[in-house]
Amino acid sequence: MNILVTGGAGYIGSHTVVELINAGHGVVIVDNFSNSKPEAISRVEQITSSKIKFYEADIRDKAAMEHIFSENKFDCCIHFAGFKAVGESVIKPGKYYENNIVGTLVLLDVMRKYACKNIIFSSSATVYGDPAFVPITEKCPKGLCTNPYGKTKSMLEDILTDFHTADLKTNDPDPWNIVLLRYFNPVGAHKSGLIGEDPKGIPNNLMPYITQVAAGKLDHLTVFGNDYKTHDGTGVRDYIHVVDLAKGHVKALAAIEKKCGVAVYNLGTGKGYSVLDIVHAFEEANDLKIPYEIGPRRPGDIAECYSSPEKARAELGWTAENGIVEMCRDSWNWQKNNPDGY
Ligand code: NAD
Ligand code: WQD
Repeated sequence: MNILVTGGAGYIGSHTVVELINAGHGVVIVDNFSNSKPEAISRVEQITSSKIKFYEADIRDKAAMEHIFSENKFDCCIHFAGFKAVGESVIKPGKYYENNIVGTLVLLDVMRKYACKNIIFSSSATVYGDPAFVPITEKCPKGLCTNPYGKTKSMLEDILTDFHTADLKTNDPDPWNIVLLRYFNPVGAHKSGLIGEDPKGIPNNLMPYITQVAAGKLDHLTVFGNDYKTHDGTGVRDYIHVVDLAKGHVKALAAIEKKCGVAVYNLGTGKGYSVLDIVHAFEEANDLKIPYEIGPRRPGDIAECYSSPEKARAELGWTAENGIVEMCRDSWNWQKNNPDGY
């Protein structure tokens, strides 16, 4: 397939582009580099020994998007472009609604105009809110998102579903096919150490924070609460290696090919690890010490969140292959080789 990857220079996008090229797909990237650097694309070219076509453009810029679609014929779009910082979204909600919602609406409009009505969307486990049950299956009802970022993901899932429903109601002969991929907690990096997560400023997420402590850039980790109802009192999450996540997108193309309508899949490992489990696994995998102290809970955090990845296994033939050791090793390998990011 020929695939437009929005946000393809970003953390998950860059790893997905590698896997798409490895699987023989054509790829065109659009990114405005608001949270990434062109160097990421050069590194992907190095890993895949191929030249990648990319456009520096904002997906909200309709003229620019029309230009891209007029120069290329796409079978599908994998849509990563958007802002993702939970804390910032609380302070600057308009920035998040504008980029994530408006950006997607412009993209959908142009896709329809150019008869490309197949999209794989980066959703998030955050749409489950504080989940009704764990392990979370796709049947678990969506929950209350406590921040604007999470709300954009939940709203966009609804918007995309409405687009498909409208096609059915109007007997559109070419209805939208939409895959909603709900990622759990992506970590790790490509084995080459050439691409990885490159957060701006002090990281908000656990794994990049730990790698920066390991690198001596940060003094110690603060564990956000140890009084949750979990096996050691610290928050439990389903960490997934970014390369496995990337491969999930390649597998999801099969659902698009089968004209899936709207299909929802969790992408996780199904295993829950606490903050202290991760600290200890990181120490063991890399033979390093991570100094930490226990601090108060972070507002908005939940006790535990982990997936049932069974639906993706049964329907897409996808299962995560990397375990916690690889996640910790590859995260550190990336940080060690790229102390200042790209
Ligand atoms: P990222 O910030 O590394 O990548 C997003 C990319 O989109 C960046 O390269 C950025 O420059 C680009 N971008 C943003 N707005 C744009 C715009 N208007 N026009 C063009 N390009 C734009 O983030 P990521 O971690 O790779 O996440 C990718 C997607 O997956 C996001 O939609 C994110 O919300 C979602 N997601 C991420 C996580 C996670 O923990 N990383 C979890 C669940 C879902
Ligand atoms: C993991 C655990 C923290 C940092 C976020 C978004 C979610 C999704 C993935 C996009 C929690 C604890 C963290 C630290 C800590 N993103 N922690 N000290 O909160 O599960 O999910 O990223 O869709 O929407 O909310 O990930 O990595 O921030 O936290 O103790 O310095 O680590 O409390 O238990 P989270 P995280």
